[in-house]
Amino acid sequence: MTTTPIVATRLGDVLPSIEIAVASPIIEEIEALKTERNAIILAHNYMTPDIYHGVADLTGDSLALAHMAADTDADVIVMAGVHFMAETAKIVSPHKTVLIPDLRAGCSLADSITATDIALLRERYPDAAVVTYVNTSAEVKAASDITCTSGNAVKVVESMDSDRIIFLPDQYLGQWVATQTSKEIILWHGACEVHERFTGAELREYRMLNPGVQIIAHPECPPDVLAEADFVGSTAGMIEWVTTATPDKVVMVTECSMADNVTVAAPTTEFVRPCNLCPHMKRITLDGIRDALRDMQFEVTVQPDVATGARRAVERMLAVP
Ligand code: 13P
Ligand code: SF4
Repeated sequence: MTTTPIVATRLGDVLPSIEIAVASPIIEEIEALKTERNAIILAHNYMTPDIYHGVADLTGDSLALAHMAADTDADVIVMAGVHFMAETAKIVSPHKTVLIPDLRAGCSLADSITATDIALLRERYPDAAVVTYVNTSAEVKAASDITCTSGNAVKVVESMDSDRIIFLPDQYLGQWVATQTSKEIILWHGACEVHERFTGAELREYRMLNPGVQIIAHPECPPDVLAEADFVGSTAGMIEWVTTATPDKVVMVTECSMADNVTVAAPTTEFVRPCNLCPHMKRITLDGIRDALRDMQFEVTVQPDVATGARRAVERMLAVP
């Protein structure tokens, strides 16, 4: 097994040498295929370090990935993330080929609501605007007035003319938004299977065991968790907070791979690591990315009529300053 200098430079600070040696030939194959296909790899912050540091061209939270997909000149976008992220990329870049390395990479939030549910909510609350988290299917986006991400949810809600907002589908993100706005927020019962497992009691224990520790949390966590947090933000917001504040010790209350990835940019910070893995994000592997580029699989498509409605909702979000 040989490790090329480029791979050693990218992964030297994040993985043991034996893992780098195993990853090296696959990373070289992926780099050659990227050039051959004029492809770009967009990776969510929850990808494992071999992907995040080893092959990603651009990394970010859901909002950044949507902007990147809209702006790229590449012919092929490989989404190293979950299905709704690939669908969003296809919605904003309809003429590009969008690939997801594993079609099983779903999301408990996207599974929690359908376009029919939205039609029923609109009947019940005819004066309310529908703001929908991007963690949803294209059909659900098309049935909404606008989408949002955890990075811009409050701004999006504030940008709507209506004082009454149906906020879908994450009840916890919706409850957190409700604390940041005077608008009435009507909630749905969806939840992220990763973030809903954290508890306030668990965080109080981290504080007790680690005096001075900073706790930063994703807004998909339940309210008792967010009440314990020193900062609440999207995955990109959390990374920015850690790299700017450079705390001595931090707990990132979110998916495990975040801490693994951020250590490179925050070498003086010690990460206390609760570990809740997202099984959907973890479907994406280096081998899967190599196969996706080699065999041009699995192409993500959106029916034209659905895509038109979903594009309206996503582009409206992207235009919110
Ligand atoms: P953000 O990266 O937009 O904060 O979203 C987190 C998430 O859970 C995506 O699946
Ligand atoms: Fe969905 Fe939660 Fe996984 Fe993100 S972390 S993809 S919200 S299940």
